[in-house]
Amino acid sequence: MAELFELRDVKKNYAGNTILNGISLSLFKKHIIAITGDSGAGKTTLLSIMGLLQQPSSGQIFVNGTAVNKLQLSEQARLRGKYFGFVFQRARLIGSLSVLENVLVPAHFAKTEDDVIKRAKFLLEKFDMSNRLNYKPQELSVGQMRRVSLARALLFRPSIILADEPTNDLDPSLAETVAEYFLQIRNDGTSVVIVTHDYVLANRADQVFRLEHGQLSQVTHA
Ligand SMILES: Nc1ncnc2c1ncn2[C@@H]1O[C@H](COP(=O)(O)OP(=O)(O)O)[C@@H](O)[C@H]1O
Ligand SMILES: [Mg+2]
Repeated sequence: MAELFELRDVKKNYAGNTILNGISLSLFKKHIIAITGDSGAGKTTLLSIMGLLQQPSSGQIFVNGTAVNKLQLSEQARLRGKYFGFVFQRARLIGSLSVLENVLVPAHFAKTEDDVIKRAKFLLEKFDMSNRLNYKPQELSVGQMRRVSLARALLFRPSIILADEPTNDLDPSLAETVAEYFLQIRNDGTSVVIVTHDYVLANRADQVFRLEHGQLSQVTHA
């Protein structure tokens, strides 16, 4: 089976400090990968390199067989938009926009057709947010904001969801709901990379890795 996504010997230095020291990783279609590691281990850095938001210091990245390193930044941005959906560590919602408008933000870079609005409403309904469409982010709980950011990430049916600690600050039942969403997304054909400290979530992944000293090692399932 061909990889949807691959990192080959990726390294990242910040000001002489090696944060990532030779990361190789393959992601297949419908696969869920969990990455754990201590605070400061480089998990967010790794996720942003995977999502083509940051350049590695060295190493190669392949998205659906395309070598990213050889592409212009504008082509990388196109690839990012085509393949990836992001759930950031903080929800990063826009305060002046309503819940529905926040989910539609990615559509502002494309055309906002009626069916895109329908899809946004469908996702918000799926995440039990239909009765909050016109609320502003500051009127929402942390868990509700996270569900809005999840809907936003899924708007254009990305092949790969990159989620940075998506169940942080959520109570256990809501964390369970988010874990369920990820499993459902997989059934729609999406692959997911989740950075998490939440072992309940990690244990539902196909593979679990630990990031330590700039390297990934696979953790065997309990
Ligand atoms: N833009 C940056 N410039 C310099 N150092 C950074 C930058 N981003 C992250 N770091 C450093 O890289 C290390 C890993 O950070 P991060 O990837 O956020 O870790 P994690 O998400 O695992 O907590 C930290 O020591 C952090 O201070
Ligand atoms: Mg982080």
